[in-house]
Parts: sequence; C-alpha cells; structure tokens
Amino acid sequence: MKSSKTLTNLARSFAGESQAGLRYQMIAEMCMQQGYKTLADELKTIAKNEVKHAKNYYDLLTGLNGTAKNIEITAGYPFEKLTIEDGLKFSVSAEHEEAERIYPEFAKIAREEGFEEIAKKFELTAKVERKHELTFKFLYENFKNGTLFQNEEPTFWECTECGHVEARKEAWNLCPLCNASQGFVKLKLN
Ligand SMILES: [Fe+2]
Ligand SMILES: [Fe+2]
Repeated sequence: MKSSKTLTNLARSFAGESQAGLRYQMIAEMCMQQGYKTLADELKTIAKNEVKHAKNYYDLLTGLNGTAKNIEITAGYPFEKLTIEDGLKFSVSAEHEEAERIYPEFAKIAREEGFEEIAKKFELTAKVERKHELTFKFLYENFKNGTLFQNEEPTFWECTECGHVEARKEAWNLCPLCNASQGFVKLKLN
C-alpha cells in the first residue's frame, strides 16, 4: 500500500472533500447574510455530505496504511472573491469533475492495484457527487433567473418559520401568517 497510487489518491480525495465542505459552508454563509435561509440549508446539507466523504477517506487511508506522517499531494484550487451565483456555478463544475472524471479514474486505479473495497467506495461517492451536481445545477439556474420560488403549475409552498402552507405558482414575498421573507420558503428541488 505504501507505494500505491491509491494511497495518494485517498489523500487527494480527503483534501478535495475537506475543502469542498468548507467552500459550501462559505457559500451558505453568504446566502444567510443575504436572506436566503432555505438555500443556505441546502448548501449546509451538501457540505455535511462532503465532510463525511472526507472522513471516510481518512479512515480508509489510516485503516490500510496505519499512520502516515506526511503524504505529499499536488493540486490546484481557485481563490476568487465569489458571489452566490458564481459559487453555485463553480460547485456545478466541481461536482461534475468528481462524478465524471476524478472518482471513476481513482476507482479504476484502485481496482488495478487490487483494492476492490476502496474502488467501490470511490464509485459510491461518485454517485453522490452526481446527485450534488444536479442539485447545484437546479439551484444555480433558478438563482440566476430569479425563479427559485416559482413553479409552472400551482404548488404547495411552505414557510419554514411558521409552517404556513399555500398552493400558488409563486411563493409570497412576505409570509401572510408570520411575515417571514421569501428566503425562508422551503425550496422545491427537482
Ligand atoms: Fe464528496
Ligand atoms: Fe459533492
């Protein structure tokens, strides 16, 4: 294991998932500051998934290798001042890369190196990232178009503050029961 590519790939995966988790928390913070409470909730849920993925990789690595004092990895990450829209756009492509390119490749290498269990974990994680990609795509497009709280047909919108529910095409600006703003309305994800 010590000289395998899979060891390095687990370390890279740990690093990638750790920073994905933090990046999504940072976007969630921006959403909170701008009043998009339920959008922030979605981001926090995905951030939690990524932190769990990072922990999984940490456990797989130490489980196989025991203790590694230092594993050198090379990776490039962007550092730009982001808006919510840019952050969501970036997240779509980051998840796409993980789901379509990075994890399938890591799984292939792990299998070639005889680590079937680890190969399966990479594949299962890729499936989750694919789901994340679709969620981010929905959020990005609707945020950009200002249609997060709109639906073609009347649908039930729910205020996450007071629980008020009402069927309409577009959610209220202010909740008729508790006055909470639109940012507190539960999102309708496809
Ligand atoms: Fe992940
Ligand atoms: Fe993800």
